[in-house]
Amino acid sequence: MPKFTFLKEDQTVELKEGTELKRISVLYPSLPLRFGCRQGDCGTCAIKVVTGEQNLSPLTKQERITLQRLGLTSHRLACQCALIGDVTIDS
Ligand code: FES
Repeated sequence: MPKFTFLKEDQTVELKEGTELKRISVLYPSLPLRFGCRQGDCGTCAIKVVTGEQNLSPLTKQERITLQRLGLTSHRLACQCALIGDVTIDS
């Protein structure tokens, strides 16, 4: 199963391929991934991917618009991503 790693916290969880990252807050509520709107609009869930960006689902149009509006073009919005392979984030 793909691994999702929080670099600063040195914590890794394994998730079934295709799992939407917004499920992490349900499955592992103690992990430092916070959500607001869950619709790609508020930016609360912005994550900085360190490795494995190609292992997230493609950038959505809504995600691109929000990241540009917030000046976070090197980030992804966790609420818009599904896990395909191993990913490490700098939360
Ligand atoms: S929770 Fe609002 S953009 Fe992801």
